[in-house]
Amino acid sequence: MADVGSPEIHSGLEGVYITESSICKVDGQLGRLYYRGYSIDLLAKYSSYEEITYLLLYGKLPTGTELAEITKQLADARDLHPQIVELISTQVSQKADPMDILRTTTSALSAYDPETADMSKEANMRKAIRIISKMSSIVATIGRMNAGGTYVIPDKTLGHVANFMYMLNDKLPDQRSLDIMRDMFIVHAEHSSNASTFGTMVAGSTLADIYSAVTAGIAVLKGPLHGGADEAALKMMDAIGNPENTEKYIESALAGKQKIMGFGHRVYKAYDPRAKIIKEYLITLQPDATEQVRNYTAIALAAEKLMVDKLGQSHGIWPNVDFFAGPVYTAAGIPVLLFTPIFAASRSAGWCAHMIEYWQNNRIFRPLEKYIGPIDLEYIPIEQRK
Ligand code: COA
Repeated sequence: MADVGSPEIHSGLEGVYITESSICKVDGQLGRLYYRGYSIDLLAKYSSYEEITYLLLYGKLPTGTELAEITKQLADARDLHPQIVELISTQVSQKADPMDILRTTTSALSAYDPETADMSKEANMRKAIRIISKMSSIVATIGRMNAGGTYVIPDKTLGHVANFMYMLNDKLPDQRSLDIMRDMFIVHAEHSSNASTFGTMVAGSTLADIYSAVTAGIAVLKGPLHGGADEAALKMMDAIGNPENTEKYIESALAGKQKIMGFGHRVYKAYDPRAKIIKEYLITLQPDATEQVRNYTAIALAAEKLMVDKLGQSHGIWPNVDFFAGPVYTAAGIPVLLFTPIFAASRSAGWCAHMIEYWQNNRIFRPLEKYIGPIDLEYIPIEQRK
């Protein structure tokens, strides 16, 4: 007999609150986003990734001394163990997916951290800094090795994002690329209990260590319905090819019931504020942009207009953080294969902050499912089965 009664099923956990948190507020109706009470618009304008990391982990903006301290801690933790570098190199040579390399390598970091099993809050804060720092080094190294290069020893004198660019390209970034990437790291750093943060928290709620939890987050982020959408959106722009083809492409995709990547959101029923920031950035880049970036921009703006006219107000489907990301990354010289890994490296700050907060009042996640299959079936020996 199936389960008795009709329990309400919250498909995709829609509308279910899992905990209280003071880390992030997503106002889906007004299209607003706050990290620890500060609007993303202000943070994107004035902050740095180091400051955001401090804000997310400690719950307040740092003083000058605190900022200098966390900047140093992040810089000191950057270098990767030679065996970690070797692990990346082996996977790159096997042409593994960069998100798989990042997941495997982040998981492997636990073996080199003497505090992996220490579940005290202080140890978890220290491990969080190491994870946030090293994930950027891993992503840069994946990119460097994919381009045929070798590990670039991090430069401790550089800021977090500048060092990422330096390790990726083996040269210092120009100011424009650095500004773009600083913004991208900030807007991707946190987004409340979305799928990957929830995945992180589910793993950590068993009191598995923080490396296990973050590894779960990376696994969840990979899919095209989540972090992988930035790459999928740019691939769509490549498939459209020319701005004049946009309408035909979008109309035919929608008629075929295909989702347009980079649009729609479970919580935002208004314009995603992060997409607004990235779009504005993209527009300001235009005067000096390459022909490729200008073409992507024209396609993106045409697709945005079509989708917003068709599905914006009427269906609450607006561009999300992933839609304009590809053209902006392209302007900073970032290869497509690194889009989602960079998202993960930035989000590591949010994942760690949530995990450490949740552990203060931990309860294992254990939802229910309504069983609809048979029970008490007769066990038939294999020889008698037809
Ligand atoms: N393009 C076209 N239609 C879309 C759409 C999109 N990007 N996103 C949602 N819809 C439509 C669905 O087809 C569905 O229509 P229906 O009710 O007629 O069947 C309706 O909107 C609800 O979609 P659903 O997938 O159930 O919403 P969700 O809340 O479960 O999913 C997303 C949210 C983000 C997974 C979804 O919007 C999506 O797949 N977007 C594309 C991937 C993406 O950009 N992800 C990054 C998110 S930051």
